[in-house]
Amino acid sequence: MKASAPGKIILFGEHAVVYNRPALAVPVTQVHVDVEVLDSPRKGVFIHAPGIDLHAELNSLPANHPVASVILKVFKLCGISQTPDLEINILSTIPVASGLGSGAAVSVALIRALSSYYLHSLSDNETDELAFEVEKLHHGTPSGIDNTVITYNKPVYFIKGQPMEIFKVGRPFTIVIGDTGISALTKESVGDVRSLWLRDTVNFENYFNEIAQIALIARRSIESGRPELIGELMDQNHALLQNLTVSSPELDRLVEAARSAGALGAKLSGGGRGGNMIALVEQPKAESVADALISTGAKRAIITEISQESAPQE
Ligand code: MEV
Repeated sequence: MKASAPGKIILFGEHAVVYNRPALAVPVTQVHVDVEVLDSPRKGVFIHAPGIDLHAELNSLPANHPVASVILKVFKLCGISQTPDLEINILSTIPVASGLGSGAAVSVALIRALSSYYLHSLSDNETDELAFEVEKLHHGTPSGIDNTVITYNKPVYFIKGQPMEIFKVGRPFTIVIGDTGISALTKESVGDVRSLWLRDTVNFENYFNEIAQIALIARRSIESGRPELIGELMDQNHALLQNLTVSSPELDRLVEAARSAGALGAKLSGGGRGGNMIALVEQPKAESVADALISTGAKRAIITEISQESAPQE
């Protein structure tokens, strides 16, 4: 049994979304996690995940291991009480700790492949909730945006604790994603923002409010078919993320390089401190902005089109 899940980028609102402000996120189907569950001639559940250098039998892993915890939760849900004999292959093209949602994508693909193997069909809502439980185990205080956009594989307007909304993309637009190649744990940047917010609540609340305003205007611009307006909003959101201390010299350099190469705006995306940045471009400039990012030190650049329907998963 096979299942896939895409990566994601946050267009607007990362970090503020942890504090109940709205955020916009979209799936990125050029990167994905593919999970295959097979019967095994050996006794036990053997997990092969070369991307994270994991080759292990389920019972040799701690129960709170990110992959083991997903498998155990699905077993419980499907009423599997005795360890079955399975091979589970997890292949991912999503770089780890890069802001592209690799952890949530592994959870979602694994939940879908395993539950289908047991003919226990789960709704998107159930999949999303289960993936969120796993996110909470590993990321401290996640908002739930990653598991939601990855589960639904659609552009998502998200406020923590509220039913998510799929937002309309009035006219497709092009984003270039640049990877600093520096891995940074979201849990740490989220934890640091929390400490700073506790010490400097008034200013941080203001930053979150300004980010919320930007997310609202961005949604309106995208829905009304005027995506070119979000370039300026990206620049403003990046400046606020710098105030939250989650940018880094490498992210700032790539953001600057994208703007100098003709992008309409750019910002970091996700937890920050490393990982990825995004730039809004007019389609004909996409290649030259991607080249500028690579020559400024990006480990890779992905050009992606954001539209209502994401590309089908193979
Ligand atoms: C991570 O993709 C986005 C953050 O806002 C954390 C979260 O929402 O859980 C930084």
